[in-house]
Amino acid sequence: MTRRLLLSYFLLTGFVLLVLEIPLGFSLTHNAEHNLLSGVGHDATVLATLVEDTVEQRQASAIAGSAGDYARRVGGRVIVVDSDGTTLFDSDHPSGPPEDFSNRPEIRQALAGASPAGVRYSATLGYDLAYASAPVASGGHVHGAVRITYSAAALARQEHGVWLILVGVGSVVLAAVFLVGWKLARSTTRPLRFLEGVAGRLAAGDLSARAGVPKGPPELRSLSGAFNQMASRLEELVTSQSEFAAHASHELRSPLTALRLRLENLEPALARRRGRDDLEAAIGETQRLAHIVDGLLLLARPGGSGPARESLDVNAAVRERVAAWTALAEEREVDLAASTPGVQLAEAVPGHVEQILDNYLANALEVSHPGAIVTVQTERQGPWVEVHVLDEGPGLSGEELARVFERFWRGGGSRDGGSGLGLSIVRQLAGLSGGEAQLRPRVGRRGVDAVVRLRAC
Ligand SMILES: Nc1ncnc2c1ncn2[C@@H]1O[C@H](COP(=O)(O)OP(=O)(O)OP(=O)(O)O)[C@@H](O)[C@H]1O
Ligand SMILES: [Mg+2]
Repeated sequence: MTRRLLLSYFLLTGFVLLVLEIPLGFSLTHNAEHNLLSGVGHDATVLATLVEDTVEQRQASAIAGSAGDYARRVGGRVIVVDSDGTTLFDSDHPSGPPEDFSNRPEIRQALAGASPAGVRYSATLGYDLAYASAPVASGGHVHGAVRITYSAAALARQEHGVWLILVGVGSVVLAAVFLVGWKLARSTTRPLRFLEGVAGRLAAGDLSARAGVPKGPPELRSLSGAFNQMASRLEELVTSQSEFAAHASHELRSPLTALRLRLENLEPALARRRGRDDLEAAIGETQRLAHIVDGLLLLARPGGSGPARESLDVNAAVRERVAAWTALAEEREVDLAASTPGVQLAEAVPGHVEQILDNYLANALEVSHPGAIVTVQTERQGPWVEVHVLDEGPGLSGEELARVFERFWRGGGSRDGGSGLGLSIVRQLAGLSGGEAQLRPRVGRRGVDAVVRLRAC
């Protein structure tokens, strides 16, 4: 934003400078040329008047005296010709033989009574000449002509000088625009940057972040007002959702626990009677219901304001959970093995890694046939510590893998009793711990590679 503002100031100023300076430059160089030529023209006329008598009487030494003086003073080349265009004096060759200049256009014009001035290319000298000539005349009769010439390089140098000054002025103006524009752009975007910071804090879960009212333009003030309203509304919603989750948790759990205890108390009374199977099924259902309630409440919890993360040894957590699941694995004749050498420290919310592993292991054991192997291994992948739970079950198709983390989604051949919430909870827990959860097909063999990656520390 700052750069764009600065660029727009630059482009605008550059455009204005071009529009102003280019015509100004042409006008100044034109004036310089005009001034020089009219000065030379004036000199030629004055000199023509000075040498009028001496030319008429062809007094060569007197012509050389006044014209030579003049040439030395003004620094140009002065020639005086008679009415035929033959030199009476040439300041470049004061003692040279007479030369015919009648073919020079400015001499022809002067002998015709005009006083031309201008710039032309001299084929004899090989460069541009600035010239002025004037007739030497008296009583309406032209006796000769005077011509003064300069190399046009001096004029070109003067014109370059004008353009250089204009470029210099333009650069100074652009530098000033850069400095002032930078400060202006920074002060314009400061409230926006502040707002961006506050939005970042809100996105990171700090629901108390508010923008304050910036001093900037009215649009920004109303933007920060709208932002604050949105943040307050968001905080209200999240707080009420948390409160609802907490209340619902309490209100649903207590009667469920009470129901399960009552059903369990009935067990001895029904020891030898019919209906015991139904009772056990009812107890199982209450346990399943409790599991669903716990899962739903966890998923209903807002993600942003989760509990603090700590550094923990992922390998130790894996070993502990694998030990806990070994009894069930043995019962199902599944070989459960962990490959977790040494210590792997990662960032996680306490208890989350264990819960994630429980879900992965439950799923893996669920799909494993007797004699199958379930392996848990950890490895370091760049900034991540990855835990893989690898099974030899039927695996999942690409379509199923894409849906597996959806709430309540369950595969075709799933066992009865699952809720379809386990993997949604895994994803939520991994996110709260700053990591990611993923299910992939195993490379080169049947089965699923269930992965959770956490930030190494
Ligand atoms: N390792 C696996 N191999 C094959 N299918 C799997 C595997 N893990 C999960 N699935 C499939 O994904 C579905 C969803 O799993 P998820 O853990 O979310 O729910 P669930 O196991 O059915 O119920 P619960 O909420 O009790 O965990 C399962 O029903 C199963 O069909
Ligand atoms: Mg499951």
